[in-house]
Amino acid sequence: YKRVTVKSLVEMKANKEKISMLTAYDYTMAKIVDGAGVDVILVGDSASNVMAGHETTLPITLDQMIYHASSVIRAIDRALIVVDLPFGSYQSDPKEALRSAIRIMKESGGHAVKLEGGKEVKDSIKRILNAGIPVMGHLGLTPQSIYKFGTYTVRAKEEQEAQKLKQDALMLEKAGCFAIVLEKVPAKLAKEVAESLTIPIIGIGAGNGVDGQVLVTHDMLGMTHEFNPRFLRRYLDLYTEMTNAFKQYVTDVKAVDFPNENEQY
Ligand code: KIV
Ligand code: NA
Repeated sequence: YKRVTVKSLVEMKANKEKISMLTAYDYTMAKIVDGAGVDVILVGDSASNVMAGHETTLPITLDQMIYHASSVIRAIDRALIVVDLPFGSYQSDPKEALRSAIRIMKESGGHAVKLEGGKEVKDSIKRILNAGIPVMGHLGLTPQSIYKFGTYTVRAKEEQEAQKLKQDALMLEKAGCFAIVLEKVPAKLAKEVAESLTIPIIGIGAGNGVDGQVLVTHDMLGMTHEFNPRFLRRYLDLYTEMTNAFKQYVTDVKAVDFPNENEQY
């Protein structure tokens, strides 16, 4: 294997090779995702929902993100590890943003950080990049702003928001971001953005005209049940598979079928 770097991602776009990205928050999952050849592993602040059961991504802390990221880092041989800067760790000012990014790099060993927003966070992005830390942008539906949006529906359907998104994407490239996640925007707009930039656009609910795709691993495995957006393709129905396994275990224990002769000392 050859390690994936921020440079290899830009090269992949130039060579028209699509980029695969999935989330992981722990060692065991990251080991499987990395071993399967996924290019980029995102330690997403979606851990707030998926791991901790919060309704939004807002409550997860920098310390908790570092714990998840350090577990993931210990598992991987090849993938590039991108770690989300959580809500509240970068919005107040560029110095705080840099301090948070440095903590992630030092304490988890992650390879890059991701943060949400366009021109509002431009100075913070520049400051982080100046310290030698690669930054991935995130535009469109940015879940840390859910209380401003009021809904998780598709973003930038109207011309004004689409224009701002295009300007923000260009700004992120100029500032030096190595890639941008575009979440839940019209496919036509996403394709336009991808075609107008040299850095890769990784889509989630953004169609196939972009340079790569990302999904939340627990969603694509079908472990989560109630989350049913159109963009989600389920590769397994682990919710049902796991439920059946747990039920069988209960049955076996109750029936004194488990453990059997060969399963004891
Ligand atoms: O936190 C996350 O999982 C994300 C992806 C959905 C892009 O930011
Ligand atoms: Na996120």
